[in-house]
Amino acid sequence: MNDVISLLKNHRSVRQFTTEPVSDETVREIIAAAGWSATSNFVQAYTVIRVRQQSTREAIAELAGGQSWVETSPVFLVFCADLKRSQSACAYEKSEVVSGYTEQFIIATVDVSLAAQNAMVAAESLGLGGVFIGGIRNDPATVSELLKLPEQVYPVFGMCLGHPAGEHEQKPRLPVDVILKEESYQESEAELEHYNEICQTYYQNRASAARDETWTHQIAKMMSKPTRPHMRAFLEEKGFEFK
Ligand SMILES: Cc1cc2nc3c(=O)[nH]c(=O)nc-3n(C[C@H](O)[C@H](O)[C@H](O)COP(=O)(O)O)c2cc1C
Repeated sequence: MNDVISLLKNHRSVRQFTTEPVSDETVREIIAAAGWSATSNFVQAYTVIRVRQQSTREAIAELAGGQSWVETSPVFLVFCADLKRSQSACAYEKSEVVSGYTEQFIIATVDVSLAAQNAMVAAESLGLGGVFIGGIRNDPATVSELLKLPEQVYPVFGMCLGHPAGEHEQKPRLPVDVILKEESYQESEAELEHYNEICQTYYQNRASAARDETWTHQIAKMMSKPTRPHMRAFLEEKGFEFK
């Protein structure tokens, strides 16, 4: 194992931070690393908005379901999928835009996710920790208003970053043999049962909020309710169509 792989395998979400600030230079370095992610067709379809204003942070923390770390983390970023810049490039070239394709939406969403993961890894390599905040999609319209996001730009997730305070336990992941298959798709109930045992032991023994929970139970709970059903209408409102 090398240093990069051991850093990746050491990931855990961090939601508690010390008050030690993170310099602007460090934030710029993290975003520079994010910018070096691979990008579909070289489109680089994302914009990252750093939110410093406390009142905006409070509003986002609240709409994200009362996630106090959005207010208290030294750095809070919002990662946006951005097709507007590509459209501006077309306008610059006085070229027609053929827009509204699902594939363009996928490209922008994948691009911003790859960049964000690079940002998280870069931050972790500098001794920082952080957490993604998908909770901003509870009310993406308000987030868009607060951040003045134009059409063709939507907020995909936030990210809190800072110096970790205290210990943060690692959550066990699916074993490699469950994720990696040879030649064709396969799955088995035995795999799920095995991973359930791993997760149940983790949940039973973890230092805070210990509980008796299996992975399949947790996922079944999640999958048994509608997931942010407002998203499609919101995206259409923002000019993303699904042709
Ligand atoms: C796109 C995305 C959105 C997430 N949204 C939230 C969130 O709103 N609040 C939160 O506390 N954690 C959030 N997380 C963190 C996950 O809960 C966490 O990554 C997962 O439980 C695995 O735990 P770990 O990161 O500590 O290994 C999010 C993660 C991702 C990738």
